[in-house]
Amino acid sequence: MKILGVGGGGREHAIAEKLCMSEYSPKIYWISEYTNPGVNAICRSTKGEHIRGSTIDPEKVVEFAKKVKPDFTFVGPEEPNFHGVADALEKEGIQCIGAKKAVAVIEMSKAEMRRLQWKYDIKGKLLFKTFRSSEEAYSTLDKYSKTLTWLQNVALKPARQAGGKGVKVIEDRQIYLHDEKQKFKSRHFDWLEGYMKPYADVEDKILVEENVWGPEYTLHCFTDGKNVVGMPMVQDNKNAHEFDIGTETGGMGSISGPGNVLPFLTEDEYKESLEIVKSMVMAIQDMTGETYHGIVAGQMMLTEIEGPTVIEMYSRLGDPEALNVMGMLESDLVDIALAILDGKLKNSDVKFNNKAVVVKALSPKGYPDYRELAKNHPIEADEKAIQKKGAKLYWASVDNDGKKTITMGSRAVEIAAVADDLPTASRIVESCIDYVKLTDGWQMYHRSDIGTKELIAKRQDLAERARSLYLQRKQNGTLGKRTDWLPGVGRVDPVQNLKKELLSG
Ligand SMILES: Nc1ncnc2c1ncn2[C@@H]1O[C@H](COP(=O)(O)OP(=O)(O)O)[C@@H](O)[C@H]1O
Ligand SMILES: [Mg+2]
Repeated sequence: MKILGVGGGGREHAIAEKLCMSEYSPKIYWISEYTNPGVNAICRSTKGEHIRGSTIDPEKVVEFAKKVKPDFTFVGPEEPNFHGVADALEKEGIQCIGAKKAVAVIEMSKAEMRRLQWKYDIKGKLLFKTFRSSEEAYSTLDKYSKTLTWLQNVALKPARQAGGKGVKVIEDRQIYLHDEKQKFKSRHFDWLEGYMKPYADVEDKILVEENVWGPEYTLHCFTDGKNVVGMPMVQDNKNAHEFDIGTETGGMGSISGPGNVLPFLTEDEYKESLEIVKSMVMAIQDMTGETYHGIVAGQMMLTEIEGPTVIEMYSRLGDPEALNVMGMLESDLVDIALAILDGKLKNSDVKFNNKAVVVKALSPKGYPDYRELAKNHPIEADEKAIQKKGAKLYWASVDNDGKKTITMGSRAVEIAAVADDLPTASRIVESCIDYVKLTDGWQMYHRSDIGTKELIAKRQDLAERARSLYLQRKQNGTLGKRTDWLPGVGRVDPVQNLKKELLSG
């Protein structure tokens, strides 16, 4: 058997490892922009091949695939999905675990995702407005935000998935600060318009959403279009530094387990989240007429207003979250892929262990604010010593020229440990940190708190506050209800208004 993989980060290293462990003993082939030494070693050890090439150019991927003639292809990142890599491969008769362009829209366009959710009346929605320009966004907010209270407390986002940057959450309830905050919004709208310039593939540029709070988590699923099978929940930690301080990053580490449900969430919340992700898959298939096969995920928040709520959708595994779910997967990933491609995926095909997994990323100093500083440092790791401690190193944002490995400006490696509980897994990872070094003396940093008792207690506290409120709402029939007030009009219902607006538009 031959398998071709696409993408070059820590997530892809974890996928390649899992594929290589299969009973089918596949030869592993891979294409990515840079050379991930972990993926490269797996290709060599299985007598496959790694090549460098653009993963967002469907022609390039197809060209290599035609040479390799794999049994199937496995796409890691989202951009190849958005660029139609799965579509191009299928046209050539090569099956693909990867969302086709039409269904990957649930991730690519945060605006389309929300419209879909409202149109199909799927639980866990947020009030939203979309804009095509900064000017349009600003004038609308200026007109309504003194009166419609939900518009005073908002998240401003790029309307497209665009490298995980640019979301700003703004509370504007203190009247004496209003003008300052309006100015800030206006500047951020301008910035968003500029940021979205390179993306001609979406019409909406800016998304304004009601601001919510609560613990966040990701629920990944395998799907063949008919069945949507949930994986264990994972929580990523976005902030650069301990106790959620510092700039948001692509993710400094993640936790999962023990078992399917995170310690601060409930079995019911897992089930409700899974229902939401299933409904999203069915809705996008219904809207596009295209089958969804591959991976889908809900990046969720447990909110006081809706309970499990969608923040955004993924058309692939998260990174570093992929290391958690791959670390817990007991079934043969190749069997799962074949079942997906056959349209015969069943719950029973997919088994996970009951362990806990902690993943921590190591970044050269400079990331995320000054990436140039984090670039071009030679890096070495004692992978054997890490293994001896009971953990595993995954190469991420690095490149290898055959002689040495250098950092590329983002999270360079991710270390994962599987244990019976999260604090133990966290301690194992901590014991490995010193085995990774930049040999030019530049410093690296990581978050020591991920998976510790203290951080889990903090999440628990937040979850309990959100839960007690949303359960109360459930009991008195106000879950998901919002009211607002307009001078001269009186009480208004923003939910009904948004539904009407979407139906008429
Ligand atoms: N409506 C919202 N209310 C409050 N916080 C939000 C909201 N939307 C996003 N966020 C916060 O911003 C982060 C990034 O938003 P997200 O839509 O996931 O964009 P991306 O991951 O592409 O940057 C989320 O993980 C969450 O912490
Ligand atoms: Mg996100």
